[in-house]
This record gives sequence, C-alpha cells and structure tokens, in this order.
Amino acid sequence: MKALIETYRKLWSIIPLYKSNFCMIILSKIFATIASVFIPISAANIVKYLTINDYQSTSLWIFYFFLATTLKVFFYYFNYYGAAKDSQYCYTNLKQKCYDKLSTYDLEFTKTKNIDEILQATSSDIWKVVELNDNLSDVIITFIKILVVIALVATNSLFLGALVLIFSLFYLIVTCIFNNKVIEYLHKQRKYQDKIAGILIEEMESLEEMKAYNMEDKYYQHFLQANNKFCDNYGKKRRYADLQSNFSQLILELGEIAIYLVTLFLLFKGEYTVDKIVLVIGYFSMLTSDLKYMLESCIKAMINNKISVERIYDLFQYHPKKIEFGSDTTDDIEGSLEFKHVYTSYGNKKVLQDVSFVVKPKELTAIVGRSGSGKSTILNHILRLYQPTSGVILIDSKDIFSYQENIYKANVSVVTQKSLLFNMSIHDNLSLVDRNTTHQQEVCQTLGIEEEILALPQGYQTMIEENGANISTRLKQLLSIARCLLTKAEILLFDEITSSLDRETTLQVIKVLKKLAKTHTVILITHKKEVMDQVDHLIVINKGRKVADGTVESLQNDPYYLDLKNSKSLE
Ligand SMILES: Nc1ncnc2c1ncn2[C@@H]1O[C@H](COP(=O)(O)OP(=O)(O)OP(=O)(O)O)[C@@H](O)[C@H]1O
Ligand SMILES: [Mg+2]
Repeated sequence: MKALIETYRKLWSIIPLYKSNFCMIILSKIFATIASVFIPISAANIVKYLTINDYQSTSLWIFYFFLATTLKVFFYYFNYYGAAKDSQYCYTNLKQKCYDKLSTYDLEFTKTKNIDEILQATSSDIWKVVELNDNLSDVIITFIKILVVIALVATNSLFLGALVLIFSLFYLIVTCIFNNKVIEYLHKQRKYQDKIAGILIEEMESLEEMKAYNMEDKYYQHFLQANNKFCDNYGKKRRYADLQSNFSQLILELGEIAIYLVTLFLLFKGEYTVDKIVLVIGYFSMLTSDLKYMLESCIKAMINNKISVERIYDLFQYHPKKIEFGSDTTDDIEGSLEFKHVYTSYGNKKVLQDVSFVVKPKELTAIVGRSGSGKSTILNHILRLYQPTSGVILIDSKDIFSYQENIYKANVSVVTQKSLLFNMSIHDNLSLVDRNTTHQQEVCQTLGIEEEILALPQGYQTMIEENGANISTRLKQLLSIARCLLTKAEILLFDEITSSLDRETTLQVIKVLKKLAKTHTVILITHKKEVMDQVDHLIVINKGRKVADGTVESLQNDPYYLDLKNSKSLE
C-alpha cells in the first residue's frame, strides 16, 4: 500500500494530475455504478410482480431495467472518453517532457545512466504509466461498489451479507498471497530478461572479437546461464499465477454454491421469495466480477507498472550542473583562444592542472598526448560543456562564459570521431544547420566531395542509411566537417576525426584542414604521427598538465613529444 502511494506521488510529480479530467472519469464511473447496482433490483422486481400477476408494475420495472442498462452504457461511454483523454494527455506530455529534459542534460548524464534504461524509460515505460490514473479511479470506485453491494445484500439478510463478506475476504487474502509471489518472480524474470538483452547487444557489438578469440562457445554458456534463470523464474511465476486463478475461482464458486444453498433453504422454509434470490444472486455475480477486475486487472497493473514510473522519475531527477552564460553579443569574433591556469576535476579526480596556452587564429593547432591525458576535456571546456574549477578561458581576450549563448554556438563548432549523420538525405543532414542549397554546394566543393556526392544514385537527395552504412568512412567524416563549416563558426574543433581513416585518406583530410586553417582557428586532437608533422602549432598534454608547446620544429628534442612520436601504440 505504502509502495503504491509512493508510486502515485512520483507519477504526479512528473506529470500533474489532469484534475478536471480525473473528476469526469470518477463522476461518470459513479453514475455508471449506480445504474449497474439498479439492474439486479429491477430484475428482482420484475420477477416479484410477475409472480403476483401485477402486469402494470412489471412493465414499469422492465422500463426501469432498460433505463438502468442504457444509463450504464451512456456513463461508461463518458468514462472511456475521459480515460482516453487522460492517456493522451499523459502520453504527449511525458514524451515532450522526456525530450526536453534529455536535451538539457550534460555529458555526465550518459556516464551515470545506462542507455538501454534511458531508451526504455522514454518509450515503452510511457505507454505503461499512462493508464495508471484510470486504474486508480477504477480501484476507488470498484472498492466502494463492493462495499455497497455487500451492504445491500446484508439489508436483505444479515446472514447472507456476512457470508458474502467472508467469501470476499477469503478471496482477497488468497489472491494477495499468490499475487505477491507472482510479482516476486515477475521482477526476477524481468531482471534476467534485461540481462539477456544486454548479452545479445554485447554479442552483436563484438562479433569480430568473438570469432577472432573463439569465445563464442564460452559466451554462449554465459547466455545459457541467464536464459535458464529466466526460464526458471518464468516457470515459477506461471505456476503461482495459475494457482492464484484456480484457487480464487474455486473460492468464488464455493461462495456461489453456498449462497444458492442458503437462499434455497430460506425459500423452502418460506422465509425468502424468488425475487430476493434473483436479487442476491445478481449482486453476488456482480461482486465476483468486480473483485476479479479490481485485484487481477487494476491492482496488478498498478504494481507491475511501478517500475516504469520509477524509471521515468529517476530520469527526471537528474539535475545537470547549471552553467550561466553572459550577454555579450559581439559577433565579429577573430578566433584567438587562451587558457589561463585552468584546473578541472571530475569529482575528486583532478583532470586538468594549471593548463595555460595560447592558440592564434588562422593556424592549425594540434593537442596531443596519451590516452586519458585530458585532451577531449580541453575541447569540452572550449565548447563550454564544463566550467573550470579555477582559471579562465578567453576568446578574443574575453572570458568565454561572457558571450551570449547563440553567438557562442555560432562561432565555435566541433566534429568528433563518431561523425554523426542521421538517417535522412545528405541534403537534409546538411539542412539541419543551413537549408541554403548554394551554401551546401559551396562547402562540399571546398572540401572536394561534391563530385563524389553527385556520383551517388540520387546526388544530394541520396538517403544516408543508419550509421552511414551506404557511404564511405571518408565521405561520412567529410560530410560531418561540411556540416561543421556550414555553421560559419570561426573556431573549429576536431576530436580524432582521422583515427579510423587510412593513411592516404588521413592526408587528404589534413589537406582540407590546412586549407580551412587559412581562414579559421582550427584545433585538432590526434594520435597520428603524419598529422602531427603537418600542423603549425603543437600542445603536448601529459596527465592533465601542459608539458610542451610550440612549432613542430621547436619540439624536435622535447622528450614528451619524442615519446609520443615513437610510441608504438600511436601507429
Ligand atoms: N565525465 C567524466 N567523469 C569522470 N571522469 C571523466 C569524465 N570524462 C573524462 N573523465 C576522465 O578524465 C580523464 C581525461 O579524459 P579525456 O577524455 O579528456 O582524455 P583524452 O586525452 O581525450 O583521452 P583519449 O585519448 O582516450 O580520448 C580520463 O582519466 C577520463 O577517465
Ligand atoms: Mg579523447
């Protein structure tokens, strides 16, 4: 019970209850319930007046019977309408909120959250939680209805009322005991289901290594173990679910037999009439279907979907560190960049320590260093994704945080190794930055890829398949650069964009970057010797500190630079 209250508290904190709609659901259900309680009363009175040949009253009760049935259908229509409206409201709002929230999150977020979990929370979980308000209204009304029906039976016969109450309680207890077991194994089953999904994803991502190291059989054992546990828990869950439905059914059937026997006994003793039997039996069958609906559908759905509410709630609980931007709208940025005694930590880990350097505009600068030395962190700082713990970063001698957000974004752009292209045409991919076809063509000409694009079956309209599977890695990388150039940014950042390219293509890309450096500030991160040899300015980072800085010639005897150049792992 406490857990369910907590679930609803979380649900309403992420999506406030649509109160007017909830009232409509509740009110229509109350009226539908009153109408449905009236149906057995009408049926009993029809029988009563038929047996005494009072045809006028019989016709009147037949009319009431149809009226109650029609009203019940009428109010249920409004109830379904309200429930559908509520689901739609929850679904659209939650989807929108998830999207808004995710777009405000910083890089830390994906480091602390599992991508599968995020995907589940933003897709299937939303479907599951949208029904929860409807489930709640059903439980409230059905519970009240059950109490009213028991009271109505008790007004006819106290003994029968007590009997109905006992069987209802018995049903409630047995169902709850078995349901708890079902839920326990369902959660275990889900845990192994997620594990199996993870194993399959890992397998797909590492097929080459699997085959190369001949790991398939051992990995298959790993899968089998998880699968056996899944099947084991699934079997147990099914067993308890079957036991629950059989036992619960048995209790209700025994209850029905008991009520038949008692009412018949009373009838023979002359203490009861046929119409009262019709009434009591009518109420009891209403009660059994209500009990089943409340416990086996509504409450079960509420408990099962608790985990979905929690996943979405956790997603919303993440608060990115707030970074304040200034209001400087100077747009004619020249592009000189300076780090002044910059220190940065991730938690307790010191990542950058006293880093100072100057990057001049219209130069090709490379940041080099061993893996984990802090190179990408420097680029992330330039992109203002993090704030230094201390020290300042200046562009054109002004603190980067003083620039207004849009101005800054328009002047600093980045391309990473991932060369992210979307599953849309080349034209549409470039249009995400600039729709102008002439601009797109100019940029592609500058990068020397226009001929290659026009040679594709549909030129600029060629659809890029998922992960860019239908175009070469070189074209993929150059299209990402094209998109970066379309931003018209003055400062261009490239994080290991040549790492998956062969030597020849790397040299072609470097040629393009050198050309760009004539008009822009270009900073790249590289591990490749052939790239280091081509740049105007090298900044060497080691364990978060800048250890050398200068032209390639001036660093020829620098031990850190020589160490990097001679390192085998760089080849
Ligand atoms: N968000 C983060 N939270 C905690 N630690 C982080 C985070 N991002 C990076 N680090 C750590 O900071 C250090 C510097 O990381 P960074 O990615 O800047 O290195 P890098 O020089 O770019 O390495 P590589 O050449 O492998 O890309 C590493 O030890 C890394 O594990
Ligand atoms: Mg890096």
